[in-house]
Amino acid sequence: MFKNFFKQFSKDVGLDLGSSHTRVYVRDKGIVVDEPSIVALNSKTDQIIAVGHTARDMVGKTPGHISTSRPLLRGIISDYEVAEKMIKYFIDKVHEDGINLVPRPRIVVAAPLEITEVERKAVEDAAYAAGASEVHVIEAPMAAAFGVRLPVEDAVGTMIVGVGAGVTEVAVISLGGVVTWRSIQVMISDSHVREAIQRSVKTIIDTVKATIEVTPPELVADIHERGIVLVGGGAQLRGLDRTLARAAEIPVRVADDPTTAVVRGTGLLLEHPSVLAEVELPSARLQDKVG
Ligand SMILES: Nc1ncnc2c1ncn2[C@@H]1O[C@H](COP(=O)(O)OP(=O)(O)OP(=O)(O)O)[C@@H](O)[C@H]1O
Ligand SMILES: [Mg+2]
Repeated sequence: MFKNFFKQFSKDVGLDLGSSHTRVYVRDKGIVVDEPSIVALNSKTDQIIAVGHTARDMVGKTPGHISTSRPLLRGIISDYEVAEKMIKYFIDKVHEDGINLVPRPRIVVAAPLEITEVERKAVEDAAYAAGASEVHVIEAPMAAAFGVRLPVEDAVGTMIVGVGAGVTEVAVISLGGVVTWRSIQVMISDSHVREAIQRSVKTIIDTVKATIEVTPPELVADIHERGIVLVGGGAQLRGLDRTLARAAEIPVRVADDPTTAVVRGTGLLLEHPSVLAEVELPSARLQDKVG
């Protein structure tokens, strides 16, 4: 009964655990957290000193007993304990103004396509440990496609290319599922070195072409007609859309507000339970119990 009581006053949250930034979406409010995925810890007391922007400002300036760490690598939890603390910090922050002392939100969290069951279970466990009453995991490109209002449930091929800080994902979606996909770790670095950028762009083009090659012709025809949609921070790289369009001979457009497409999708899915049920991944915890 108390569980439901707390749940009633909790804000359901959409969560995008990015390699560089963590984003949280809350219904009626929009994006309430968009902060670096960085945590500063006191190794003497094992306590969190700062998270997000504040922690980033400490990077490179810490004394011996304080360390800053990034708990996500390529969109996957690399340090479980720190990730759990970070998620809890952001969830609590969202509920700071509320009357509930123990937030028990439903959480929809995006995960990269290239994730093992063990890694997916870690995401679910971390979200439950942070206080979630329900956790739903969704593939990041699916979340992004839903976030930018592409017709993910229709029998029509949609190609979404997500260029993030740690991972670039190319996915073809149709009938509520990812049909074909490719994922790469060589990303657009913060370096402005021309060759480095050119190499990254070439890798993205090759990955799009490789995905097209394994995609059924009916869906390829749809993609040619409807074009490719770019999301993620790297989508803002100047000229990427035009270069990709020319190389793939397919129209390309950058989604509006491309960096928040994934988190908007996770948040919107909470308002569409039937779509969520259709597109979410099975719980890795459940499989663990059964198997
Ligand atoms: N204007 C820009 N031009 C080129 N690249 C940009 C621009 N703005 C942001 N980026 C790149 O976008 C990346 C951050 O993208 P994003 O916030 O989508 O990553 P993330 O979600 O944290 O990581 P991931 O999804 O890979 O785990 C950074 O690597 C940054 O270099
Ligand atoms: Mg991302």
